[in-house]
Amino acid sequence: MEILRIENVSRVFGGIVAVADASLSIYKGQFVGIIGPNGAGKTTLFNCITGMYGLSHGNITLRVNGEFKQIGNVSPSKIAQYGIARTFQNIRLFEEMTVLDNIKTAMYHQYRYGVFSTFFRTKKFKRNESLIHKRAKLWLDEVGLLDKRDILASQLSYGEQRRIEIARALATGAKMLFLDEPAAGMNEQETNNLINFIRDIHKKYDLTIVLIEHDMRLVMGLCDHIVVLDRGICIAAGTPKQIQSNPSVIAAYLGEEVNDVKD
Ligand SMILES: Nc1ncnc2c1ncn2[C@@H]1O[C@H](COP(=O)(O)OP(=O)(O)O)[C@@H](O)[C@H]1O
Ligand SMILES: [Mg+2]
Repeated sequence: MEILRIENVSRVFGGIVAVADASLSIYKGQFVGIIGPNGAGKTTLFNCITGMYGLSHGNITLRVNGEFKQIGNVSPSKIAQYGIARTFQNIRLFEEMTVLDNIKTAMYHQYRYGVFSTFFRTKKFKRNESLIHKRAKLWLDEVGLLDKRDILASQLSYGEQRRIEIARALATGAKMLFLDEPAAGMNEQETNNLINFIRDIHKKYDLTIVLIEHDMRLVMGLCDHIVVLDRGICIAAGTPKQIQSNPSVIAAYLGEEVNDVKD
């Protein structure tokens, strides 16, 4: 079932066309890889989908309760409420907060408080606080970092910080994740762990995942659909096998480095 529709989207920055007339449909449960050289517009496309950038042209619509709703030019917090979450190319955590508090901050928007209940610490407020605390611990357990809950996020290894960032995205209740180069800067062992982890959560939580990545082993091993961007333009889309043998893709990007293709 089609859940996200990107139609003729462009984003221009003072003369630079970062995304040029991109169209793409995403289906429920799909695992989509977005690849392309540096500067191809991949992150910009994510920023347009998640509300961080407005669109210069085009439409982005999301299936909400059976109807397609406009989400282009909608605020990031509103988009989070529609069940879309993301991680960043450069990990963004609250470094001076504990690991547990990093997860908890992602969960507050799911619980409504009036000023009154926050100020007077009503029963409802306390009940919600303890619920958030428990659920945040469950998410940490899920990513295998429960025993690190009380240390500062900045003290975790790179691979652990990435898992916290993903746990935080999941803790928002999102069903659709956008991961921007999750394996960047990781060694082989960390990358292998990450591949297994992402594969597990995709299945377990029935997620739709869109991933930008340079590590071809990761892209080809996880994704069932790949989109290639080059200078803002979608130059190809298809299965890993189709992409691997597409001459214009090879010319633009892939070269000799693709192997381990998923059937
Ligand atoms: N906020 C911005 N202001 C100006 N130019 C930007 C901005 N964000 C991205 N760009 C430009 O858009 C192009 C695409 O960048 P980006 O989406 O980050 O590429 P990718 O993620 O594929 O490496 C680049 O030329 C980049 O310099
Ligand atoms: Mg990028």
